Amino acid sequence: MMTETVLEVKNLTKSYSLKAGGFSFSKERVHALSDVSFSIGKGKTLGLVGESGCGKTTTGRSLLRIIEPDRGKVFFNGSDTNFLSLPEKEMITERLKMQYIFQDPWQSLNPKQMVGRIITEAPLQHGLIKRENALEVSKKYLDIVGLPSEAARKYPHEFSGGQRQRINIARAIVMKPDFIVCDEPVSSLDVSIQSQILNLLLDIQQEFGTSYLFIAHNLSVVFYLSDEVAVMYAGKIVEKAPSRKLYEDPRHPYTKLLMAVAPKIDGKPVSLQPGQDGEVPSLTKLPKGCSFAERCPIASEECRRSIPPLKTVEFEHKVACFKAL
Ligand SMILES: Nc1ncnc2c1ncn2[C@@H]1O[C@H](COP(=O)(O)OP(=O)(O)O)[C@@H](O)[C@H]1O
Ligand SMILES: [Mg+2]
Repeated sequence: MMTETVLEVKNLTKSYSLKAGGFSFSKERVHALSDVSFSIGKGKTLGLVGESGCGKTTTGRSLLRIIEPDRGKVFFNGSDTNFLSLPEKEMITERLKMQYIFQDPWQSLNPKQMVGRIITEAPLQHGLIKRENALEVSKKYLDIVGLPSEAARKYPHEFSGGQRQRINIARAIVMKPDFIVCDEPVSSLDVSIQSQILNLLLDIQQEFGTSYLFIAHNLSVVFYLSDEVAVMYAGKIVEKAPSRKLYEDPRHPYTKLLMAVAPKIDGKPVSLQPGQDGEVPSLTKLPKGCSFAERCPIASEECRRSIPPLKTVEFEHKVACFKAL
């Protein structure tokens, strides 16, 4: 049986205007996302991986219209109306079933609110629960994320980074979302607790059938919990395949580079240094051909001349590379 599609994204494109400094504004734009397309099935996880600045957060935020993309289509929960073209009121209603978990566990926690209130604020505001049940609801969700019920009456500063990320997760799942963008949810945490949070996300998915877009710059983390993985470079998806296939048979030279430097889940993080393995291209002046050509060990003239399209090379395996077929 085919898996039901929860999210279908077509040609998502976003550029930012570049402040030139002082009072002047440059006409140059940062092309953060160019024609990004993918879909995510019910209860499935698509991992989105790439170096810092490649457009992962812009992808996640555009999907939920936290920032408005320039172009593209997003179909949510089988709807045939483009979510990106919905008027604000309808957009907000549809978005109740989409949630976002940020990298920094502080970012969405109001330090002046008690945790119970943080968790139940949105469902109360949208009339999904009754005020007299709020404490009980917050305790139920604290329990699901592995925190004691007394946490409801405490403030965010009384918790560790990992516990705060659990609070953020409770705050997201209390809305019973069908889809959650997890934007590097463990990147700022101690490696010793990263796998606990990843396992919690997996348990939640098992229990509630939630779909995830799981963003990370570390391939090991992405392989650990994704059904499918998309590799992003300079605002484009350059390779996409089921996790296992990508792990066993990476085709794009950039994916191979990422795999060569990926730390183990509990290992020491290794980052790609600009200059060490070549420079990430400027997103204001994208090259005429393949964005990766400058760093690529197998690039030819053709690669510098024209942009390789994302092509199916094998069942469920797509690569944007002229040479790696
Ligand atoms: N508000 C903004 N204004 C201008 N440029 C931005 C803005 N947000 C992100 N960018 C740029 O867009 C590109 C993609 O950023 P981002 O989506 O945050 O990447 P990632 O999450 O992969 O690190 C980067 O070059 C970044 O500097
Ligand atoms: Mg980011």
